Amino acid sequence: MALSLFSKNKKAILNRCRDDYPTKMRLKYAPYYHAIEAQTGTDIRLNGRDMIMLSSNDYLGLSFHPKVIEAGQAALKKWGTSPTGARPSNGSRAYHVELEEKLATFLGREACHVHAAGYLSCISSIASFAQKGDVILADKNIHSCLWDGIRLSMATVERFSHNSPDDLRSAAESVSSGAPKLLVVEGVYSMEGHICRLPEITRIAEEHDCFTVLDDAHGFGVLGNQGRGTVDHFGLNDKVDVICGSLSKSLASTGGFVAASRDIIEFLRTNSKQTIFSAALSPSQAAIAMASLDIMQTEPEHQERLWRNTKKYRAMLTQLGLNLWESETPAVPIVLGSKERVYPFWKALMEKGIFTVMSIAPAVPAGKDLVRTAVSAMHTDEQLEKIAEAMAYAVKKVG
Ligand SMILES: Cc1ncc(COP(=O)(O)O)c(C=O)c1O
Repeated sequence: MALSLFSKNKKAILNRCRDDYPTKMRLKYAPYYHAIEAQTGTDIRLNGRDMIMLSSNDYLGLSFHPKVIEAGQAALKKWGTSPTGARPSNGSRAYHVELEEKLATFLGREACHVHAAGYLSCISSIASFAQKGDVILADKNIHSCLWDGIRLSMATVERFSHNSPDDLRSAAESVSSGAPKLLVVEGVYSMEGHICRLPEITRIAEEHDCFTVLDDAHGFGVLGNQGRGTVDHFGLNDKVDVICGSLSKSLASTGGFVAASRDIIEFLRTNSKQTIFSAALSPSQAAIAMASLDIMQTEPEHQERLWRNTKKYRAMLTQLGLNLWESETPAVPIVLGSKERVYPFWKALMEKGIFTVMSIAPAVPAGKDLVRTAVSAMHTDEQLEKIAEAMAYAVKKVG
């Protein structure tokens, strides 16, 4: 009896997997999970065709920098492939401490902790500090990892309209004064390319005594002096308690970081499940992040080129009459407004050899269905010209 009940339950799950509508649509139209066959910088090969990558987060274009590759290879030789353990037990290495110290100094913080994924860093930046009975004020458009952190914390959540200080103020005023409050924002919103309105937002956070967490996955390397990020861009280092982010974008590695005061980081090391029960960052990825961080401070030309390319690219899209959702950064969405318009636009770009990613509701707000593009310092003028031609073709196709 117990066995037959179990098999019925299992069947329900198997049917759920087999009949899932979004999976069926994904397999039918195949917009995701393309396995690129070869890559050199922004040149890629897909299905035997040479294409231009226009949606990577390699903002500074360091993933093929000779010093970065060399650092990764040397670390692999010196330390092997993986620490094969979590940090509190057998997984801590000198290179973790070195990277953490370098990141903390760069960000003007006392301490830092690195994880094997930015996703883990961002979850733990919320789940470690908030608990049941607390109230989390969250921008409606924050990344999935931050929502996961909020859910795991069991705190009550109050969402406020995207990047709206007025709505944040209303949400903060609606909270009973006794509950500890945590504010969660992104420095640069990954889908929209918007820069957080940090001066107004941190003023309200201060008035309401909020513990402030900022995910700067897309601001790090892009904004601020030498790429110190959004907080540095506004000169508000003392107004944000925790900066978390990813090593997989401007730092051309994989992994993530949480930077804060020593007390906060030591508390995280004691209490964060993502930190205690997950294997540590690999030696090559740590060395790659360290080499990139060094390059950010010694070779300003990458950040300069990134912004030159961003301005050129945005001007080109604006001239074609495209809606860029007022993006202010190298993450540039092209809003088409419906999946019926996004799909042919994305396909037309693919036809012309331009690799982008489409994002449709509910991954983006209804009516904001878009093709997500991102410029890199590595794009050449010749590539930008090819991109312009392809965009004009896609605009004509979609009408
Ligand atoms: C805003 C934001 N936070 C966190 C992450 C997670 O970083 P990672 O890809 O390194 O796990 C991402 C990645 O897409 C992101 O866009």
